[in-house]
Parts: sequence; C-alpha cells; structure tokens
Amino acid sequence: MGKIILGITGSIAAYKGAEILREFQKRGWEVQVAMTEAATKFISPLTLQTLSSNRVIVKQFEDVQSLEHITLCKEAEALLIAPATADFIAKMASGLADDFLSSVFLACQKPVFVAPAMNQGMLLHPATRRNLETLRSWGIRIIEPEKGYLACEDEGLGRLAEPRKIVFEVLSALGKELKGKKVLVTAGPTREYIDGVRFISNPSTGKQGVALAEQASLMGAEVVLLLSEASPLQPLVKTQRFSSSEELLKKVLSSDFHWLFMTAAVGDFAPREKFKGKLKREGELVLRLEPTPDLLKEIASRKKPGQVIVGFAAETGNFLERGKEKLLKKSLDYIFVNPVGNGKGFASDENQGWLISREGEVFEIPLSPKEEVAREIIEIILKREEE
Ligand code: CTP
Repeated sequence: MGKIILGITGSIAAYKGAEILREFQKRGWEVQVAMTEAATKFISPLTLQTLSSNRVIVKQFEDVQSLEHITLCKEAEALLIAPATADFIAKMASGLADDFLSSVFLACQKPVFVAPAMNQGMLLHPATRRNLETLRSWGIRIIEPEKGYLACEDEGLGRLAEPRKIVFEVLSALGKELKGKKVLVTAGPTREYIDGVRFISNPSTGKQGVALAEQASLMGAEVVLLLSEASPLQPLVKTQRFSSSEELLKKVLSSDFHWLFMTAAVGDFAPREKFKGKLKREGELVLRLEPTPDLLKEIASRKKPGQVIVGFAAETGNFLERGKEKLLKKSLDYIFVNPVGNGKGFASDENQGWLISREGEVFEIPLSPKEEVAREIIEIILKREEE
C-alpha cells in the first residue's frame, strides 16, 4: 500500500472527502489532502488533517515549500480529485495552474482520477461535457456521478458517486497482481421455479463470491460476477444476474475467463415440469424433481489450456476426504471446502476452511472475514500457478 493524494474542490459534496479518506485508510492507504480555498468553506482542513494525520495543503505559497506542487505526486501512487466541480474540471482541461491543487495536477505524472459532483444542468452543459471528454482523452479516469437528490433540490444526475465506489475504482485501477487476468465468479443460490412465482432454493447469499470478485478486482483483474437474482448484495464489480442452474450454465459457457470461482450454491434438484402462472391451492400437489446437471463437470470438460477452475463445497463432516473426492469427480484445479451448520458458512460474514489443489496439497485458512478468506485463496492460487 502507498499514498494517495486526495484533491477536494468547492462542492457541497466536499464533506464526503472525509468518508473517502477513511475508505482509503481502511484498506491500508495513506492519504495526503490538498484542497482549493472554496472547498475549505464546506469542510474544515482541520477535520481532514486530524483524520489523515497529515497536514492539509490549501495555499500555494503559504502552506508549502516552493516546489511541493511538483514533488507531491512523485511520492504518491495516484491523484484523485473528489469531488471535482465544473469549474475545477474546466481549469484542468485548459491547463490553468493558479492555485496549489491545479498546479499539483499539471505537474502530476501518476494516474489521475476525477469524481465530478455538480448540478445536472452544469454536468450536461456542452462546456463541461467537452472538458470531461478532454480529460478522458488524456487517459484520466472519470468516476461517473450518479442520479439522486442534488443540493439544489433537483433530482437528477450529478451526485458524487458513493465514496466506497470511488475508492474501489481507484484501487482496482492501481491493482497489479492479477493485471491481464479475466476472472469469472458465480455466487448465490439458484432458483428452480415450480410455477410462475414459487421456487426451490437455499439460504446462500453469495457473500463469499462477492468478496472474491471484489478482491480479484482490487488486485487488478478484469472481473465479471454472475450473481443470483436472490442475492440482496450490491457488489462493486460488473454484475450480471442469473436465476436457474440452466441459465447459470449457459452464462458460464458463453463467458471468456482465465480463472473461474464457482461459489454459486447450485440446487441439486429441479422440478421436472414448470407450471405456467400461479398454481391454485386446490388439493394435493405432487412434484417430481430431477437432479440438475453437474455444471462444474460440464464446464471442466470444456476447459481450455491455461484456465483455472475452482469449486466450493460446504460440508458437514469428513471435510478433506469429501473435498478431494469432489475435486477429482469434477476435474477441478482447486476446491475450497468449508464447514456449514451451527451458524457457520451461509450468510455469515466470516468463513474458514481448506483449499485443496489438484496435486492434493491442503492449505488451511483460519476463521476470518470473507474478504480476507477471498484474498488468501487468490494469493495461494496465484503463487502456485506462477511456479
Ligand atoms: N455445483 C455444480 N453443479 C451442481 C451442483 C454443484 O457445478 N449441480 C458446484 C458448486 O457451485 C460448487 C461445487 O459444485 O462449486 C460443489 O457443490 P456441492 O453442492 O458441494 O456439490 P454436489 O456435486 O452437489 O455434491 P453434493 O451431493 O454433496 O451436494
């Protein structure tokens, strides 16, 4: 982890700078704040100084030594301007450097990110659109503003993106370990419909899968997450929803990936026939269930050279033996086996288990938050696949 320069400009959303700063710190990054004078009207430099444990720079000739606008970016990994006003974006696009932050930008040779925040009219004005286009053409990443309530009470486009999303986008772009890798993750329960509204499912929420997708993205991978329509989670990565095991299989088979993490809790049985509309509660209903195809077996049988396929198995006993059996039966490269029951596994925030490789090596992962379990699984695989 390194240092990020957070540039805050004079928008009502400037107070969210504190939250952005915290999000970076939570992930182990140091933050150096530089603000425009206008931004100090919305949030006090003292607040940001206290939170960041770094002095906050506002004025070009008073707060810093003469060349600091040039040296500041050298010791940082990236510059993020959030929130960025229409005025500051215009300044960036025209190369003006009449205050400390705009001088830092002009002298900065590191990746630059801009998260605009303004009224919808200002955002959609041809001048702002042209300025943002100019920044994009220079390789600057624009973290798109969202729709929502704006300070002027208009509802519209222009609201600063969520702080955790901003930080996630910056760090994913800086991630290096999995750069160039396409990672596909499936997560959450399948739903096998009985009629138009009822289905057979299970209590999985998809947390471990979402954690894997987000960690892989933070490590620089190009990630696609196939997430169950039943999952209440709103992941930070590119997500497509699926419903049944059949639909999931089709989606995986039509996706291009280097690594596949199959954390989806695929139902083992599906009704042989699906009734149209909503069945009436009239007398007995007999359902005939048939086993779903083994998706992983099918996927692994079409494996291309260089692909890595990882299965997940929640077990209640004989964990390692059953894990090894499944790894062989499904022709996997790895399987992560974890105990379920007694509050463990499904829907919880923590996980523990064993990662087994195709060569039969076993790596124990102790009880930890699902994000850490995800990181550890990825790191073990990365290390082994590079050997
Ligand atoms: N899986 C799959 N297709 C299925 C069932 C499961 O691809 N029809 C995948 C899961 O996504 C998981 C792995 O296989 O990655 C192990 O899932 P699990 O339910 O433990 O395996 P099953 O083959 O269903 O075995 P069991 O009889 O123990 O349920």
